[in-house]
Amino acid sequence: MPTVSKHYNESLQLETILLQLNDAYPDGPNAYQLAPIDQLHIGGIKASEKLAERLDTLKPESVLDVGSGLGGLLRVCKQRHDAIYVGLDITHGLSYANQQLGKLNQTSSPCMVVTGNGQQLPFADESFDVIIMQHSLLNMPDKINALKESKRVLRKGGHLILHEVLMGEHYEQMLFPVPWARTKDISHLTSEKSLTALIDEASLRIESINDWSEEAILWRTRQTNKQATQQTSSQSPVVSPAMILGCDFIQMGKNVQSNLQNGAIRIVEILIC
Ligand SMILES: C[S@@+](CC[C@H](N)C(=O)[O-])C[C@H]1O[C@@H](n2cnc3c(N)ncnc32)[C@H](O)[C@@H]1O
Repeated sequence: MPTVSKHYNESLQLETILLQLNDAYPDGPNAYQLAPIDQLHIGGIKASEKLAERLDTLKPESVLDVGSGLGGLLRVCKQRHDAIYVGLDITHGLSYANQQLGKLNQTSSPCMVVTGNGQQLPFADESFDVIIMQHSLLNMPDKINALKESKRVLRKGGHLILHEVLMGEHYEQMLFPVPWARTKDISHLTSEKSLTALIDEASLRIESINDWSEEAILWRTRQTNKQATQQTSSQSPVVSPAMILGCDFIQMGKNVQSNLQNGAIRIVEILIC
């Protein structure tokens, strides 16, 4: 099993997650009730909703989410815009969990989910109108192939949307563990300058770059406060990121907050064609 999959698989408690969700929400959880576990990126469900707004103007018929994890983004997009949605993730345990979570929502059919590598996509040329990578390029060492593969499977006039973590001005202050890596060996952050050069090398073109770091800090601060309240009260949440990332999730969150505040990392949304 690749090391990155081991990271996302080793603490995954799917049975507990499904039991807790079925107990608490017999009619099926809504997107907000799933968000603590299926929005595994900085900015939570609000960030996914903001990305989904892009689809209003792009109007894709088919969307591929590379590194789809537990599928939160796919479900948010599907609720907003009708299209064929496919999720791809290298961690089979997460792809399986994504399918199981998709079945809990009785009002919409689950998205198609594939286990595979974003650096070597198992799709024919020109298969999708939009490809999204949300905090998944950060685990990929071979970014040029991930970008070239996206270019290959995008239809003419298609768009690639990145919602990613980049190295900040003070990357030397980076603290681990973070949710995507306990140690630096599977964290593959790049600077905006290097990523821009790779996008160019892949014959892709940047339409816009938006820095979401400020709102990411506000979101992370709210999460830290919420977790502190939960820890002191006797009420435990129905589902928690700890059921995927393990007990050091709290420390991971605190480190994300410090990394953002210290300028070790930045959060960007990049629209590419
Ligand atoms: C931080 S999680 C983000 C998951 C999801 N995008 C989200 O925001 O909730 C990173 C995800 O990328 C996946 N991933 C990492 N490397 C990958 C690769 N080479 N190909 C496909 N998926 C990959 C991981 O398995 C994991 O599900």
